[in-house]
Amino acid sequence: MNKLILKKRSVVILGASSAIAKGCCKALAEQGATLYLAGRNLTELESLANDLKIRYAIETHYGFFDAENFDSHPDFFNEVCKVLGEIEGVLLAFGYLGNSQNIFDFSEQKNILNRNLIGSVSILSLFANYFEKAQRGFIIGISSVAGERGRSKNYAYDAAKSGLTTYFQGLNQRLSRKNVRVITVKPGFVDTPMTFGKTGMFLVADPEIVGRRIIKQLFLRKDVLYVPWFWRYIVLVMQCIPEFLFKKLSF
Ligand SMILES: NC(=O)c1ccc[n+]([C@@H]2O[C@H](COP(=O)([O-])OP(=O)(O)OC[C@H]3O[C@@H](n4cnc5c(N)ncnc54)[C@H](OP(=O)(O)O)[C@@H]3O)[C@@H](O)[C@H]2O)c1
Repeated sequence: MNKLILKKRSVVILGASSAIAKGCCKALAEQGATLYLAGRNLTELESLANDLKIRYAIETHYGFFDAENFDSHPDFFNEVCKVLGEIEGVLLAFGYLGNSQNIFDFSEQKNILNRNLIGSVSILSLFANYFEKAQRGFIIGISSVAGERGRSKNYAYDAAKSGLTTYFQGLNQRLSRKNVRVITVKPGFVDTPMTFGKTGMFLVADPEIVGRRIIKQLFLRKDVLYVPWFWRYIVLVMQCIPEFLFKKLSF
C-alpha cells in the first residue's frame, strides 16, 4: 500500500463526541483531513466541529447518527456521500457499557448488543461495500479487550465486543484483497465518561493519548492494535487462566 496522505481526504467519525474519538479527531485534523462528525448530540458535535475548524484550518461537517436506528443508516450514509463526495475512511467509535442497575435483564442486554454490535454491523455494511467498490479506503473499528473473555460483571458487553472483533477480522480478510485496510482497536481501561465512577479499574489510560495512538496506526502495518500496548500481554495472561480457576475470580 502507498503511503497514506490524509490532507483534504474525508474521514467519517461515528460516535464523534466520545472521549477517545476526540483524541482521534485532533490527530486526523493535524494531518489536514476533512472530518464528518456523526452522533446523537448535535450541540456537542457543532461545537467540536467549529473548534477543529478554527484550530486546525480544516473542513468539518457534522450530522445526526443513531447506531440503534438501523433503518436510518442508508439515508445517513447517502447524506454523508452527498456532503463529502469521496470518502477515505471511517472510524467507528461509539459504544455503550450498559446500566449496571439492570445489566442482567434481557431488555438491557438487548440494548448493549444492539448498540455495540448490530448497530456497527448495520452501518459498516454500507461503508464496507463502498470501499470495496472504490478499491481503497480504511475502516478503524474500536472493539475492546473486554471481548477477549466473558466476565460475570457485564458479559453482554463482553459478548458484543467479542462479536465485533470477529466481525472486523472477517471484514479485514474480505477487504484486504481490495486494497482496503481494516484496523481492529482493543483499548484497555480508558478514563472517559463511559468508565467514570466504575470500580476495579487499573492502568487507566488518557483518552487523548489513546486516540492519537489509534490514528498513528494508520501509518503502521499491523491490523490489530492493543492500546496501551501492555494490554496485549495482560490479555495473554487472562486467556491462559483455565476456566475452572477463571470462574472463581471476580474482575
Ligand atoms: N473507556 C474505556 O475504558 C474503553 C475501553 C475499551 C473500549 N472502549 C470503547 O471505545 C469506544 C469509545 O468509548 P469512550 O470510552 O470514548 O466513550 P464515551 O466517551 O463514553 O462515549 C461514548 C460514545 O458513544 C456514543 N453513543 C452511545 N450510544 C450511541 C448511539 N445509539 N448512537 C450513536 N452514538 C452513540 C455516545 O454518543 P452520545 O453523546 O450520543 O451518547 C458517545 O459519543 C467505545 O466503543 C467503547 O466501547 C472504551
